[in-house]
Amino acid sequence: MADRFQTVKGVHDILPEDHEYHTFVKKVVRHRARQAGFRRITTPMFEFTDVFKRSIGDTSDIVSKEMYVFEDKKGRSLTLKPEGTAGVVRSYIQHGMSSLPQPTLLFYFEPHFRYDRPQKGRYRQFWQFGFEIIGESDPALDAQVIQLANKIHGDLGIDELFKLQLNTIGTPDSRAKYTQALEDYYVGKERSLCEDCKFRLEKNPMRLLDCKQEDCQILAQLAPAMKDYLDKESLDFHEELKGYLDEIGMEYDENPKLVRGLDYYSKTVFEFWDKSEGSQNAVGGGGRYDGLIELMGGEPTPAVGYSAGVERIIANMKREKIRVPNKDSLHVFVAQLGNEAKRKSMTIIDELRDAGLKTMGALGKGSINIQLRLADKFKVPYAVILGLTEVREGIAIIRDMEKGIQEKVDMEDLTDRLVELIGEDDLDQYTPGELMYG
Ligand code: HAM
Repeated sequence: MADRFQTVKGVHDILPEDHEYHTFVKKVVRHRARQAGFRRITTPMFEFTDVFKRSIGDTSDIVSKEMYVFEDKKGRSLTLKPEGTAGVVRSYIQHGMSSLPQPTLLFYFEPHFRYDRPQKGRYRQFWQFGFEIIGESDPALDAQVIQLANKIHGDLGIDELFKLQLNTIGTPDSRAKYTQALEDYYVGKERSLCEDCKFRLEKNPMRLLDCKQEDCQILAQLAPAMKDYLDKESLDFHEELKGYLDEIGMEYDENPKLVRGLDYYSKTVFEFWDKSEGSQNAVGGGGRYDGLIELMGGEPTPAVGYSAGVERIIANMKREKIRVPNKDSLHVFVAQLGNEAKRKSMTIIDELRDAGLKTMGALGKGSINIQLRLADKFKVPYAVILGLTEVREGIAIIRDMEKGIQEKVDMEDLTDRLVELIGEDDLDQYTPGELMYG
C-alpha cells in the first residue's frame, strides 16, 4: 500500500467537532463587532513580501524567520500573510478609505501563516480574528478595543483566565533615545546574552526586554527603564487610557517590559496573558500604530487594533470544559423500500428540509431494517418509513426511534406531525435576510 498522506507539520484539519467551536467563536466575534460598528474585511491570503517587511519590520522574528515566502512565475516575491494588520492597512490606503467617515472600523477572521516551531498553541497555519480602528487618535478608542476583546473572551467563558498586560512604548523619537540608552547599557554584556538577543541588540534592542531566557531576563531587570525616556505626550495618553480602563472596570497589570514583536507599534501596547502560564500562550495582543499608515505610503493616520488566536481560545474553552451549542444533530431519517417509494422520498425529504427538519435518507438499497439500524447510528429521534403500500395508500409511518413506537399519518400531514414532534423551537430555520431587487 502506498504511504498515506498526512498534513504538513504544524498545520491541521478543522474537523466537524472543532468547527462547532470555530463557528461559535466566529458568531460571537461577528456579533460583538457589529454592535460596535465594525465591518468585515478579508484581505488576500498572500501579498507582496514588502507589505509585511516594511510594516512588521525586517528585524522582527516574524519577518526574519517565520514568513512563508515564495516566488511566482514572474519572479515576484510573495508571502503568505503572517498577521492581519499589514494587509488591512495596505487595503485602507489602496481603496482610499480615508475619504470615508473616520475612524474606519474593520474586523477579520482569517487563517494566517508563520513558520514557527510547532508546539502547544503554536502552529504554522492558525486562525486569528482581529479589529482595527483607523483614522483617530484617542485613548478612549484603545480602551474600547481592549474592552471589546475582553467582552468576546467573556462571551466565550474564558475572560477570567486572562489578565491584561499594558504598557506604552512612546513615540518613535522617544524610542530612539531609549534604544540608544539600551545599547549603551549592554556594551560589554554581550557574552551573557542568548544568540537571538545578540542579534536583537544589533537590530532591535527593545526586544531584549521580553526575552524568555533566564540570563537575558536578569540583565533586562537592571536595564534602563523605558518610562524614564518616554515623551510627555505618550505618558499623558497612557494616563488617560488607564483612566478609561478604570472607568469601565477593566483590570490590568502595568508591564514596563512588554514591547511586542512587531515594529509598527507606538504608544499603547497590550496582551492578554494566561494567569497561570504568563506570556507563553498569550491569547491575543495589540496596540496603537500611529506611524504605520504613513510608512506604508498613506497620509499620516493614527490607528489602534487587536488580534487573538482562535486555536488558543478554543483550547482554553476545552480546558475549562466549556461546550458550545451543537446544531448538527439530525431530526429525521427517511427509510424507503422499492423504487416507487424511493422516488417519492425525494420530494418528502425536500419538504421536510424546507420546513426546518434536518433530514437524511434515500440511502442505498438496503432493507428497511438495515436503514433503521443506520438511523439509530446517526442518533436520529424519528424515522419515516415508506414502502410500496404506504405510497399507494398515501400514508407514511413515523417511528419514534427511542421508544420503538410507530404511528401512521396521511402523507399530507407528515411534515406538520413531525414539526409537532420535534417542536417549533428546535427547527433549523435560519434565514440570512430577504433579498431585495432593483
Ligand atoms: P500577534 O501578537 O503576533 O499580533 O498575534 C496575535 C495572536 O495570534 C497571539 O496572541 C496568538 O494568540 C495568535 N498567534 C500568533 N502566532 C500564532 C501561532 N504560530 N500559532 C497559533 N496562534 C498564534 C498580531 O498579529 C497583530 N497583528 C495584532 C494587532 C492587530 N495589532 C494591531 N492590530
